[in-house]
Amino acid sequence: MAKKRYFEAAKWYDPLFENVLRGLRMAVVELVPPREGLRVLDVGCGTGAQLAIYKEGGGEVFGIDLSSPMLSIARSKLNGSSVLANGNAISMPFPDHCFDLVLSSLFLHQINPSLRPAVLSEMVRVLQPGGQLILIDFHPQDSRPLKGKLTYGLISAIEFLAGWDHYNNSRDFLTRGGVSSLAGVVGLKICRSAVKGNGNLGIYLIGWA
Ligand SMILES: C[S@@+](CC[C@H](N)C(=O)[O-])C[C@H]1O[C@@H](n2cnc3c(N)ncnc32)[C@H](O)[C@@H]1O
Repeated sequence: MAKKRYFEAAKWYDPLFENVLRGLRMAVVELVPPREGLRVLDVGCGTGAQLAIYKEGGGEVFGIDLSSPMLSIARSKLNGSSVLANGNAISMPFPDHCFDLVLSSLFLHQINPSLRPAVLSEMVRVLQPGGQLILIDFHPQDSRPLKGKLTYGLISAIEFLAGWDHYNNSRDFLTRGGVSSLAGVVGLKICRSAVKGNGNLGIYLIGWA
């Protein structure tokens, strides 16, 4: 499903979303600033926007994504000097403990609930001891102010347009408590977080429980 949908959406992704997502990208680099030689993996890297910021700051950047059209946009953005794997996050072609920073944005919510813990554990496998893990995804909230409700409505519409499975996985993700409850399932915890998107998007720095 993801392959087909992102095949259709790849050329529209940056023009539609990148302006809106810029604030999230910058909040990520505030949590873990780029530096020379920082080895960064973006899981479900899409068109490579977050990696481009780390690369500009001197990082060695790596990405993995199921969609070749999304990756081909990422390749053009990163000038081919990065490792971009066309593969599934459930089993990544990277050795154990090889990255200083593993990040993943707007990715986990779309993964089938039964696979989410294994996908998160796979991210931990490739992280160096003492490395950092940042997850950015939809943030569950019991009540939102009006602006937050409107933003939530827009997000729900986009999720619906992305397909039935995508929509159901996304709803399930929020119902189960989003990143914080998923982290708990695999023995991780949230060390720091910031909420954007009128209360709908969370940026979480993850640590060990
Ligand atoms: C909503 S996009 C987010 C892209 C990017 N992380 C961002 O912040 O703009 C989700 C991406 O996850 C990729 N994806 C979905 N399932 C995947 C899987 N099992 N393994 C790797 N990538 C996957 C899709 O192809 C898509 O590029």
